[in-house]
Amino acid sequence: MSDLLKLGVLISGNGSNLQSIIDHIENDSLKATIKVVISNDPDAFGIQRAKKHGLKVVVLNQKNFKSKEDFDLEIIKTLQENSVELVILAGFMRVLSSVLIKAFPYKIINIHPALLPSFPGLHGQKQAFDYGVKFSGCTVHFVDEGVDTGLIIIQGVVPVYDEDTEESLAKRILKEEHKIYPQAIQLFADDKLKIQGRKVRIKSAKKKTINPIHNPPLGGF
Ligand code: GRF
Repeated sequence: MSDLLKLGVLISGNGSNLQSIIDHIENDSLKATIKVVISNDPDAFGIQRAKKHGLKVVVLNQKNFKSKEDFDLEIIKTLQENSVELVILAGFMRVLSSVLIKAFPYKIINIHPALLPSFPGLHGQKQAFDYGVKFSGCTVHFVDEGVDTGLIIIQGVVPVYDEDTEESLAKRILKEEHKIYPQAIQLFADDKLKIQGRKVRIKSAKKKTINPIHNPPLGGF
């Protein structure tokens, strides 16, 4: 039990990615343990999800802190007190200050609902939908001091159909988020991520060919 990777999950809202991580841990497909869930919103639904599964929840409301740095220092303290080894941002609606990023170098990851580096920042799904892309998806990446600029670990791709709405696209993307986030955490837990410049290689991954896909599909070309 003690050699399981210790996670701290930061949330602000619905917490469906938190739920997916919990479910993968409970069905034993993710070998990790959640030591603490931190929410910056006392009303986040994710808090209820965490409590239902007996997880420790700490609510840190930024309104009660003098500055962003003070708030982040409290987050660091909470993570360290709970021996967290990997910090998971799961819909945490704040940009982290450098003090927090430096406290956990290459040990903070985030999921973004678009294929980075396209459509960073808020509402990645809507940005992609409005732009008219034929594919979108989601990206798990290490967090650096920029907004969604960190090294990319894994991406999931979904098609965008003519009849899609912003909502139907967001739903399709979220479904993939729930698969790639636990997968990325497991790769980290297995020490399989090797950083080379901007590239995150997967150590000892067998080369698998992925066929190119086209949307709309090629008709006889
Ligand atoms: C997800 O779309 C994630 O990509 C983004 O925030 C949303 C969080 O959703 N960073 P949930 O709270 O995990 O349901």
